[in-house]
Amino acid sequence: MSLILAIESSCDEMSVAILKNKRELLCNVVASQIDTHRLFGGVVPEIASRMHVECVSTVLKAALQEAQVSMNDIDAIAVTKGPGLVGSLHVGVQAAKTLSLAYHKPLIGVHHIAGHIYANELVEDIEYPCLCLVVSGGHSELVYMKDEFCFEVIGETLDDAIGEAYDKVGRVLHLPYPGGPVIDKMAQQGHHTYDLPLPLNDDSYNFSFSGLKSAVINLCHNASQRGEDIVPEDLATSFQEVALKVLVQKTIKAAQDYHVKEIIVAGGVSANQGLRHQLTSQSPIKVLFPPMKYCTDNAAMIASAGRIMYEHQLFSSLDLSVKPSIDLENESVGE
Ligand code: KG4
Ligand code: ZN
Repeated sequence: MSLILAIESSCDEMSVAILKNKRELLCNVVASQIDTHRLFGGVVPEIASRMHVECVSTVLKAALQEAQVSMNDIDAIAVTKGPGLVGSLHVGVQAAKTLSLAYHKPLIGVHHIAGHIYANELVEDIEYPCLCLVVSGGHSELVYMKDEFCFEVIGETLDDAIGEAYDKVGRVLHLPYPGGPVIDKMAQQGHHTYDLPLPLNDDSYNFSFSGLKSAVINLCHNASQRGEDIVPEDLATSFQEVALKVLVQKTIKAAQDYHVKEIIVAGGVSANQGLRHQLTSQSPIKVLFPPMKYCTDNAAMIASAGRIMYEHQLFSSLDLSVKPSIDLENESVGE
């Protein structure tokens, strides 16, 4: 039996969740700042950390109230220690350390991507060995897991993350931030009409999205210089088809090469309907996607990874500091 209180504040969401045992989620309160950052076309780190400071106590109180538990009932405090925005991470880590000290509860520093991966375990047991496709605003990685909490990064982006590419294409199309979910919807309404380069279609497990992103930006600028109109839905379809084609092909190839039992998808872009449809329909190997509400940043996923770390007694000391660019492989159990 375990009761884990988790805090996630690595970017522009402040979230507190309380998880009982493996998947009895008592609450998952998320305070999003998207409406504020949308005014600037992207996340402003200074504003994000200031807003986290303002709301952390309120979110914590709301979570305890919704879960109907007191701090004394909690077994451990899990918190995202990185990667992410340094100021944003600080607020969550300071809050977690304060709670740990005041209530004499063990502290667990969780890697944000381990959280995204274990969001899947809130609904179903992960079968090992598995391959994780991590697709978020800051990451595009293929992670081989031979066992629980054993991470081997076998491929990654050489430049932009896939979510970042979606958001930049959204910006050039003058769509509201974040562009990813809007492009996903528009892509379902358009046709593949624009010829765009296939990004890094080689034998490696690495990705590259900056060439594709630049091609979209150049296409829009050239059209505007010639006074021609772009059909945004068609461009969204063309961009998404090319971007997903390589993601899906490389993921299936890696899964077959590593003889995994299943493919796990993790991170904000796992909400993408095109990715869900294409990977599920093309993969001969079982594919697991997190439920939509756990795709983008939330503390439930940190609680889920924190629960495993609690079982392995992987505790942090009170001098835990934030790690804005920490490696996932360093988090592996027993390595
Ligand atoms: O995991 P996440 O919430 O934050 C990071 O850890 O980065 O991911 C946010 C990213 C953003 O780039 C957003 O545009 C993208 O996930 N995203 C999507 C969709 N929903 C969120 N991208 C494509 N299609 C979606 N449906
Ligand atoms: Zn994330």
